[in-house]
Amino acid sequence: MGKIIAVANQKGGVGKTTTTDNLAQRIAEKGKKVLVIDNDPQASLTDALINSEQIKKVIKHEKNRTKPGSCNSCLLYLEGEIPEPIEIKKNFYLIGASKHLAESGTNSEFDMICEFMDKLDFFSGQYDYIFIDCPPSATIFQTAALSSADYVLIPTELTASGLRGIEEQKQSIKKIKRRVNTRLDLLGIVIYARHKRKIVVEQHFESVIREEHDKIFDTVIPYSRKTAVEARTFQKTIQEYAPKSELAKRFEELTDECLVAMGAGR
Ligand SMILES: Nc1ncnc2c1ncn2[C@@H]1O[C@H](COP(=O)(O)OP(=O)(O)OP(=O)(O)O)[C@@H](O)[C@H]1O
Ligand SMILES: [Mg+2]
Repeated sequence: MGKIIAVANQKGGVGKTTTTDNLAQRIAEKGKKVLVIDNDPQASLTDALINSEQIKKVIKHEKNRTKPGSCNSCLLYLEGEIPEPIEIKKNFYLIGASKHLAESGTNSEFDMICEFMDKLDFFSGQYDYIFIDCPPSATIFQTAALSSADYVLIPTELTASGLRGIEEQKQSIKKIKRRVNTRLDLLGIVIYARHKRKIVVEQHFESVIREEHDKIFDTVIPYSRKTAVEARTFQKTIQEYAPKSELAKRFEELTDECLVAMGAGR
């Protein structure tokens, strides 16, 4: 069975989608079969991977209903429907999202979460790694992801609210691990710097985070707005867009650290 990794933080804009995209594609380039699931109605990951013409073709939604067989993550929540992942490149597949994900609640939340867990069981037999990009809130989408996952990866920024975000996320993990999914484990915390040169306040919060929490990755993702935004806009990974950049180097290191943490070696 493949490993399932939920990339989650209830705080918005901390790097969840960037981490999912770059890590998952690097692992696919290393020869593993990888599926990414856009589990956020904002659909940022989907926008980062396929263009609007392709989206219309694969995420079919007509007459207030998402068509069975379309590549839409809302089908993961519906009984009897199964989405069809699309191949983005060799070894790398996507189940995308649209804003309709937020409207997929015709069943009870309990039924939706059970459906999602069943579908993830099914897909984990077909892929080496599955990454689930979660929305920035403690919604049913996050609960479903944590209920199905082996690991949670928490990207964070170096601020007081970043620190609170880690706490909140760890509480959610604890609750779900105790009651629903005993195999759930924290894979690690990924620190994103928010300033070009780490300012004193960031240095302070980094030492607090490293003191108060374990499983913090050594790699810190540096701030590089131009590279990060341009790469996503042009639908490329950081590695593809700016292979010699500091950011590309750090994502390479982070990928290796994650693989080692999952017991997979580099
Ligand atoms: N290293 C970086 N330096 C500067 N900007 C970055 C970096 N990484 C990502 N960004 C940008 O920061 C913004 C937020 O990143 P991202 O979308 O990955 O966060 P998120 O946690 O998924 O957000 P949301 O909570 O809305 O889903 C994006 O515009 C992204 O391009
Ligand atoms: Mg996101």
